[in-house]
Amino acid sequence: MSKHHRCLPLFAAVNLLLILQPSAIGLPPTTTPITRFQNYLRINTAHPNPDYNTAVEYLTSFARTIPTLLIQTLYFTTPDKPLLLLTWPGSNPSLPSVLLNSHLDSVPAESSKWLHDPFEAHLSPDGKIYARGAQDDKCIGMQYLEAIKELEINFHYSPTRTVHICYVPEEEVGGFDGMARFVESEEFKKLKVGFVLDEGQASTTEEFRTFYADRSPWHVVIKATGVPGHGSRMYDNSAMENMMKSIEVITKFRENQFDLVKAGLADPSEVISVNPVFLKAGIPSPTGFVMNMQPSEVEAGFDIRQPPTADPDLMRKKIAEEWAPEWRNMTCEITEKGTLKDFMGRPLMTATNDSNPWWSIFKQAVEAAGGKLAKPEILTSTTDARFMRRMGIPTFGFSPMKNTPILLHDHNEHLKDSVYLEGIQNRAQLKHRSAHFQRSNKDSSLLCAKFSSLLWTCTWLYQNFLPNSNQLL
Ligand SMILES: *[C@@H]1O[C@H](CO)[C@@H](O)[C@H](O)[C@H]1NC(C)=O
Ligand SMILES: *[C@@H]1O[C@H](CO)[C@@H](O)[C@H](O)[C@H]1NC(C)=O
Ligand SMILES: [Zn+2]
Repeated sequence: MSKHHRCLPLFAAVNLLLILQPSAIGLPPTTTPITRFQNYLRINTAHPNPDYNTAVEYLTSFARTIPTLLIQTLYFTTPDKPLLLLTWPGSNPSLPSVLLNSHLDSVPAESSKWLHDPFEAHLSPDGKIYARGAQDDKCIGMQYLEAIKELEINFHYSPTRTVHICYVPEEEVGGFDGMARFVESEEFKKLKVGFVLDEGQASTTEEFRTFYADRSPWHVVIKATGVPGHGSRMYDNSAMENMMKSIEVITKFRENQFDLVKAGLADPSEVISVNPVFLKAGIPSPTGFVMNMQPSEVEAGFDIRQPPTADPDLMRKKIAEEWAPEWRNMTCEITEKGTLKDFMGRPLMTATNDSNPWWSIFKQAVEAAGGKLAKPEILTSTTDARFMRRMGIPTFGFSPMKNTPILLHDHNEHLKDSVYLEGIQNRAQLKHRSAHFQRSNKDSSLLCAKFSSLLWTCTWLYQNFLPNSNQLL
């Protein structure tokens, strides 16, 4: 056992399998980064029956080809929902670690609407790999490992800071039996995570996209009650009339938010979106609805998404006072599917300016690899990143895919081989870049210039990034 191994906490748990790795059960020598990616994509981890165990076995066999990686499989619920945690031990375990996260599962795919079987990982003559999960997010899961393998095997590099790579189940169904459990666990606490890179999305331009926050979903159901009456009678305060008044108010609010987007003053993910999702009213008859009867109850449901800059108290007040006022005989039910604040009461977002040293390092890494970053964005939906941000851990969503159509959850999800390789390929032959790193010495900037591909540079820089302030501890 090496010194590194002893420095790491050993986890004692019945449900935990700890395998220390010097063994080299190699994959066939003919595999390439592309065939290894295809093989991962061929494991069907789509809901509703994701085959997590085969995926974990596959990743484990690849991880075994990287001699210093520690491999653990954790179970927080049932044996069919494993979480794979790999650790690349750093020489200074007292430093906060870096966590590279991806999820094992994917959304379902309707095979009949695809050009190629979604679990065949077909490589077209123009280099497109068609598979469910190609973009979301098996690409990053394999790229992390490929990058680390290159660094360790071809460059005999060992990190200063410990790096953990984790593969979580259940992200696509809310993360409740996956990342949500993991962040609450003793195992997670022991990792002393200082920074996380999680999944992002493809960019259709030359610029890479970074996500620093998710929007938080609320499900709101409002209900109106009133005196029922004959369909011929005009009277005040029927349930339907009261509901329509509310819908007018909500429509106005939605319009105001949407106008900000249309005027170019805000991105769609920076405003509060409100969309009606159901209306329930009327008295059923064998042929449809009773037409001469005004009902005594009406219900309407709304999907609301708020950016972390929104004030949840203000929103609750608005809903109670304007959307479903008691005096109008209305009630509301708000199901907050996510919070807007972290455990300290701070907005659930990661700073993207110099106040956050992890951001500066990230930006340097992307630029050193010859990449450009678009203006950081709030994700319109949600990912597991919210669980880490809630713990106050800086987290960016980043999947290095540029000039790529956004196809997550879509038919014919695919990724070009060249785009995939750009994240990991050895570009040592490239001319020395004049990248300058504030926090690294001459040797390291030289090395970085060699590792001009993205995830290498990111991984390498984070491993070597020595904190110069308490912010990171
Ligand atoms: C609310 O319900 C009460 C009792 O049925 C009724 O008297 C009153 O007019 C209703 N108010 C409104 C605004 O609907
Ligand atoms: C950095 O960004 C955070 C979060 O958006 C903000 O609160 C803070 O004032 C900014 N700091 C600087 C130095 O610009
Ligand atoms: Zn995803």
